[in-house]
Amino acid sequence: MKLATFLTSGLAAFTAAQTPAPYTDPKSGITFSILQHSSGYFFGLALPTNATGSTDFIATIGGKGTGWSGVSLGGAMLGKLLIVAWPNGQSVLGSFRKTATHASPAIATGPFTQSPIANGTYVNSTHWTYTFLCSKCIQPDKTTFLPTDTSPSLGYALNAAAPPQKTNPASSVAKHTSQGQVVFDLSKARSGRFEEWAGYAGVPVAKVGRGFEG
Ligand code: HEM
Ligand SMILES: *[C@@H]1O[C@H](CO)[C@@H](O)[C@H](O)[C@H]1NC(C)=O
Ligand SMILES: *[C@@H]1O[C@H](CO)[C@@H](O)[C@H](O)[C@H]1NC(C)=O
Ligand SMILES: *[C@@H]1O[C@H](CO)[C@@H](O)[C@H](O)[C@H]1NC(C)=O
Repeated sequence: MKLATFLTSGLAAFTAAQTPAPYTDPKSGITFSILQHSSGYFFGLALPTNATGSTDFIATIGGKGTGWSGVSLGGAMLGKLLIVAWPNGQSVLGSFRKTATHASPAIATGPFTQSPIANGTYVNSTHWTYTFLCSKCIQPDKTTFLPTDTSPSLGYALNAAAPPQKTNPASSVAKHTSQGQVVFDLSKARSGRFEEWAGYAGVPVAKVGRGFEG
């Protein structure tokens, strides 16, 4: 790895998927424990300090270009609550997904919602970024990590190809070109400012997801 790589600030591109590390989004000011991938993909989590009974987190997900980025809140692809997002011009679309088979996951319905955080959701010349309060996203049914888990494995998946119906949040996606599972040390994602940051969120998007003007 060249020295210059270490000197790059912000969402620097390293090789493959790294250990999640602290990152503060410059536009929202929210600090996440973020997983970065050499493709430009990233997924970050912010959680409250008191884990007991908490079902919510703030997520940031994005990438470079026009492809999709996804996360499995339970680590594996099958039978877990998935989140898929991609950019559409200056908008970003996000949705919940679930599947029992290794095929494009269908929209998932349940108590969970995504409420976009306006200044953490944007498309610039290099990346797209979608930041949202994920309410009731930590479920007790083994489809996600648990509130009191300390170091769960979460799954990441991405493809640089845009979905075939990129204006439709329920669009199918092509199989990932890169995927895997990464351990998140949740203690590094916890902050006493969580409630303040959660207050930045707007209204929940429709259950099927929708475009959000960043
Ligand atoms: C047409 C769409 C998709 C197909 C055909 C597909 C297929 C597969 C297959 C066959 C594997 C096993 C590893 C491999 O052989 O490559 C896998 C793993 C995985 N997939 Fe998918 N996938 C699709 C979409 C997605 C999406 C949208 C997500 C997340 C939002 C996702 C998340 C994962 C994760 C995290 C793994 C690794 C963990 C595990 O082994 O379960 N996949 N996928
Ligand atoms: C675009 O946004 C990403 C995510 O905040 C940031 O890492 C990157 O430096 C930004 N690019 C430019 C050209 O400002
Ligand atoms: C954490 O939250 C639980 C459930 O709301 C509550 O019973 C407990 O007192 C809280 N702990 C602290 C240290 O605030
Ligand atoms: C992002 O927006 C919230 C209001 O929703 C504001 O309080 C916060 O200061 C903004 N972040 C930055 C870095 O300006």
